[in-house]
Amino acid sequence: MARITVLGGTGYAGTHLVREAAARGHEVRSFSRHTPAEPVPGVSYETGDVTDPALLDSVAADTDVVVTTVPPRGELEPVLAGILGDLAARADAAGVRLGVVGGAGSLLVAPGGPKLLETDAFPAPFLAEAQIMDGVLEELRSRPESLDWFYVSPAAGFGAYAPGERTGRFRVGDDVLLTDDEGGSHLSGEDLAIAIVDEVEQPAHRRSRFTVAY
Ligand SMILES: NC(=O)c1ccc[n+]([C@@H]2O[C@H](COP(=O)([O-])OP(=O)(O)OC[C@H]3O[C@@H](n4cnc5c(N)ncnc54)[C@H](OP(=O)(O)O)[C@@H]3O)[C@@H](O)[C@H]2O)c1
Repeated sequence: MARITVLGGTGYAGTHLVREAAARGHEVRSFSRHTPAEPVPGVSYETGDVTDPALLDSVAADTDVVVTTVPPRGELEPVLAGILGDLAARADAAGVRLGVVGGAGSLLVAPGGPKLLETDAFPAPFLAEAQIMDGVLEELRSRPESLDWFYVSPAAGFGAYAPGERTGRFRVGDDVLLTDDEGGSHLSGEDLAIAIVDEVEQPAHRRSRFTVAY
């Protein structure tokens, strides 16, 4: 049993993650600005804003792993990268493993590149978010060896608009986008959660990024 703290455990990825972790018997806390209308049984919900340094202190305390799902959207767009850097420093100091749910945009479309976000196919409305989370990955790679981190890039077609279903059957890759026979890249919220809790229980990607898709 691990103590797992999810920053953003009430959002799309976060709700699936806290549900999967609690179902497997882990001690799960979630931090977000609001409490959910339908709380997941067994999950402890705390409220606060990531722009508050005191919240980051709480997130990194009394836990084995912190997984952040908070996206750089709206007011967080210009500041989230710095906040996640502050969180990484706290996790490092506390000996806590840090997981970051990022995006597919930073994945390479083929070995050697380019990145998906550098191609014409990448949707413009998501470009800023993808670039910021790409920067977060680069920043993690420059962190001291003492920080145990992982970064997960879901499939390009992952998202609340395409919830999919739980299959338990998916592929796990490294820095290259995984596509199916039709060239699509898909993953349900439940299957991303399975992959992340698998990583928490049996770390296979220390200080590295992995991607998950069908
Ligand atoms: N295909 C892809 O590559 C893809 C697609 C979608 C998402 N993503 C990435 O996956 C991750 C999760 O995205 P998502 O769609 O699951 O996000 P989401 O549904 O919008 O959830 C965001 C979570 O963060 C919390 N949050 C937002 N602002 C906060 C603040 N200031 N302080 C504290 N908590 C805050 C929200 O709760 P409150 O609002 O109550 O605070 C919520 O729990 C992000 O990194 C996103 O970039 C990737």
